[in-house]
Amino acid sequence: MNEKQRLEGQQVKAANSSDKKSEKDYSKYFEAVYVPPSLKDAKKRGKEEVQYHNDFTIPEEFLGMGKGRKFYIRTYGCQMNEHDTEVMAGIFLGLGYEPTDSVEDANVILLNTCAIRENAENKVFGELGHLKHLKTQNPDLLLGVCGCMSQEESVVKKILKTYNQVDMIFGTHNIHRLPNILQEAYMSKEMVVEVWSKEGDVIENLPKVRRGNIKAWVNIMYGCDKFCTYCIVPYTRGKERSRRPDDIIQEVRHLAAQGYQEITLLGQNVNAYGKDFEDMNYGLGDLMDEIRKIDIPRVRFTTSHPRDFDDHLIEVLAKGGNLVEHIHLPVQSGSTDVLKIMARKYTREQYLELVRKIKEAIPNVALSTDIIVGYPNETDEQFEETLSLYREVGFEAAYTFIYSPREGTPAAKMQDNVPMEVKKERLQRLNSLVNELSAEAMKKYKDQVVEVLVEGESKNNPDVLAGYTRRNKLVNFVAPKTAIGKVVKVKVTEAKTWSLKGEMVEEVQPVEVK
Ligand code: 5AD
Ligand code: SF4
Repeated sequence: MNEKQRLEGQQVKAANSSDKKSEKDYSKYFEAVYVPPSLKDAKKRGKEEVQYHNDFTIPEEFLGMGKGRKFYIRTYGCQMNEHDTEVMAGIFLGLGYEPTDSVEDANVILLNTCAIRENAENKVFGELGHLKHLKTQNPDLLLGVCGCMSQEESVVKKILKTYNQVDMIFGTHNIHRLPNILQEAYMSKEMVVEVWSKEGDVIENLPKVRRGNIKAWVNIMYGCDKFCTYCIVPYTRGKERSRRPDDIIQEVRHLAAQGYQEITLLGQNVNAYGKDFEDMNYGLGDLMDEIRKIDIPRVRFTTSHPRDFDDHLIEVLAKGGNLVEHIHLPVQSGSTDVLKIMARKYTREQYLELVRKIKEAIPNVALSTDIIVGYPNETDEQFEETLSLYREVGFEAAYTFIYSPREGTPAAKMQDNVPMEVKKERLQRLNSLVNELSAEAMKKYKDQVVEVLVEGESKNNPDVLAGYTRRNKLVNFVAPKTAIGKVVKVKVTEAKTWSLKGEMVEEVQPVEVK
């Protein structure tokens, strides 16, 4: 399907506010004109090969669009969204807009949304309410919703029905269409809705404005084919599509030449990198083996799926150098039965075996994880298994969540006999354990010297600098501002539960690439 056909099928305009006077008028219009994004269509994985494009340009007729106008993007959710925001900011600049930090000053406000849990969505709906008054103050203002929530039909319907202040809705697969969508929003009084249910091709040369010049995100793949039963991501982000290694390596080389100190390779499930290549057998291990030779001090990757974490990758990570000793390895549950219902495709024992192999190869590795508590019908015993696995692995950090049903996913249809009170209590117990083990891991650093990539002033005190160690520990320390952007040695004087305090000792010489 080419872009034109896709648009004919999926681009739609919704009723403008005057058409939405009553529910009756609105629904008539809705049925006649509006084709919502479909999670069901999004689930269909086609066999057609991914097409790569290098020909993105901003159409000439749009070039002056942003002159005298400012844009503001608020980002919710994961690093992938952060990175999409960097791309959209690049497009805005290409159109002649200027960035602003204030919604009051902005001529375009975009909310780049996250759909992973209900509370993430509620925040966005709350924000749309707060922003409504700006539309009356500034008639030229465009308010847009993009990102993962836009891919959900229920969200789009809700916005059409109750949030007339929104001028445009677009999804995750068509951010390169931003110039056209803006143009259409300026031209028409109608709410512009352009959401593609299915992923598009990979477009390589989209502009980007990176946040900061010390750390950078590098997308290595898009989408997810795992379909864990609780997760909306495979629907909102489409099927797995890997970028070609040469394009990634070129981007990393360019970042190194620009002086970036750290890159994080991004994907919803980075360990599946390369599985979609038809012409070669090339995976994340191969890619990391190339990237470790590039002169950039630190390389991270996120997020891993235990199922695809293969021996070759472990072998490459064990070579160290710029490949740091921190792995984020979401386990989700410590119970084989729950893992089965989640469709995670590994057992407790297989996860523990993977951890054993990783620790054997990289003895000083720091492991962190994601955990969901209160899965439908999770028993006390199954939850206890999560606690015992957490301790057995010795995780040093975790993101912990109460299960949140997502419409359209298999788990949302499951009967659930676990009361919310019990879920909350489980989360609290898990979080106490997470704190306990983090504090224990931190304590070991007392009086040690650690390497810190200095990111800037600490959040609460401009006289103190902050940065992370290779093993992803936050360190606050006293040092001259000239240390910002460098890797320095810091002597740890105090260990807290979630951070370290210290004093700078010296700058670190660049790593030698083996
Ligand atoms: N409810 C709660 N947590 C979820 N996650 C993903 N989907 C859900 C859901 N429906 C968590 C998982 C994942 C992390 C990014 O968010 O732990 O690893
Ligand atoms: Fe969601 Fe599972 Fe894919 Fe991660 S691997 S994005 S949890 S479906």
